[in-house]
Amino acid sequence: PAPGWSISADVVVVGSGVAGLTAALRCEAAGLTTVVVTKARLDDGSTRWAQGGIAAALGEGDTPEQHLDDTLVAGAGLCDEEAVRILVTEGPDAVRRLIETGAQFDESSEGSLELTREGGHHRRRIAHAGGDATGAEISRALVEAVRARGVRTVENALVLDLLTDAEGRTAGVTLHVMGEGQHDGVGAVHAPAVVLATGGMGQVFSATTNPSVSTGDGVALALRAGAEVSDLEFVQFHPTVLFLGSDAEGQQPLVSEAVRGEGAHLVDADGVRFMQGQHELAELAPRDIVAKGITRRMQEQDAEHMFLDARHFGADMWEHRFPTILAACRAHGIDPVTEPIPVAPAAHYASGGVRTDSRGRTTVPGLYACGEVACTGVHGANRLASNSLLEGLVYAERIAADIAANGLDARVPQPLPHPEIPEHPLQTPEARFTIQRIMTTGAGVLRSAESLAKAADQLQQLHTDARDALAENGKTAEAGVDTWEATNLLCVARVLVTAARMREETRGCHWREDRPERDDTTWRRHIVVRLNPDRT
Ligand code: SIN
Repeated sequence: PAPGWSISADVVVVGSGVAGLTAALRCEAAGLTTVVVTKARLDDGSTRWAQGGIAAALGEGDTPEQHLDDTLVAGAGLCDEEAVRILVTEGPDAVRRLIETGAQFDESSEGSLELTREGGHHRRRIAHAGGDATGAEISRALVEAVRARGVRTVENALVLDLLTDAEGRTAGVTLHVMGEGQHDGVGAVHAPAVVLATGGMGQVFSATTNPSVSTGDGVALALRAGAEVSDLEFVQFHPTVLFLGSDAEGQQPLVSEAVRGEGAHLVDADGVRFMQGQHELAELAPRDIVAKGITRRMQEQDAEHMFLDARHFGADMWEHRFPTILAACRAHGIDPVTEPIPVAPAAHYASGGVRTDSRGRTTVPGLYACGEVACTGVHGANRLASNSLLEGLVYAERIAADIAANGLDARVPQPLPHPEIPEHPLQTPEARFTIQRIMTTGAGVLRSAESLAKAADQLQQLHTDARDALAENGKTAEAGVDTWEATNLLCVARVLVTAARMREETRGCHWREDRPERDDTTWRRHIVVRLNPDRT
């Protein structure tokens, strides 16, 4: 089909978390007409679920250099040091600007920011809001600012593909929009600059902290557009997710690292603190180390979960400092004031994504990426806790500055014909669950050559079946949000498994049972993938 409607702007921002809305606000402030398109409602992405906070060297005695050191250590030898330097030096001012935009962080009685600790940080440098509702407050403030500024938004708009002009430059995006009046059905936003801020892909696994919208749409779009994608094998598993049963599926309640930052202990069923002696920071070791510590202990004891014990906080502290987590636990029949919380690792964050330079530019001219969808190089093989909101902020601001400074020639209006949207071999909505099970079994927290090979075969079969059905009788699943999400999940899962098979070592959050050692001789490098855009 050809798009049925179109609108034009200087910039289209795809996604509405901290990265997308910051990019949109800064672009508008620079005089660029901007449209935000988002798959559900403006506040439906991962940002609003962030608990612990946003890391920046804002405390007395802390410095960007110390934040840099902690980030590089967590990244296990694969961070781009220059990208990290930008993050940690521009971070404090970016947080101050976020506060000016309206976000209210928790303060001490003297009026300074209250800062907490999380895994891998040697200092208190995590600013938080509403105790453990930092993302919700950031989302509220940014959504209000976008509305107050009159930035044009299109909700319920699933992005499909990138539009390019004859020279291969970005010319906008196609969208599938449901229930938004004049912009219903398949349409297009024409713009010479596209900012991908679509978030992550946690839904590629059965149990994840990510909301249901995190289906890898931006990475899949970028792959179809021929952009480079890097580090997809580095999926971060959060160590402490409320354990709701081994067959739990979809979004699971997070128990923030900040709970450990304030002194909670990880214990096994016998009450033994098993992280002591494994790392100098014990429970506050970088996230990959804690997730491995928990998984190992679960294997040793044939247990489905471990426990997080914070009974010593007492009722007052739980109610004031961690009200969201307290409510989530109680809703599931667990009272952290009187009993330890059952926890297990679950998929949490894509450390890799669409490869960008320090200005957020991807390898396709005019296509930018920021936030979880991007791979700026700051996370390496394992993101440091609470660096993600910061990365979204800092790199969104850099993108807006780059478009404002260098995008003028690209913004010459170009009359574009409505291109036909090619038929894709779409997956059925049910394939989503098949993909999640394949990935959880074969490419989860523990991987091996054998498990990954099996996952690769099973994923390939799903793709082959859909492609053959399309080629042989022109039949494909009916286009809609569910089918596109399943198709995007399959696309990113296949690339993730390919990269995980190639990386024959254990590093950061990529844990190969059959290759338990880190191999700096061969593997201190990135796996960068680019698909032939003619392939679907
Ligand atoms: C948490 O609060 O533990 C999550 C923080 C993060 O993912 O950076």
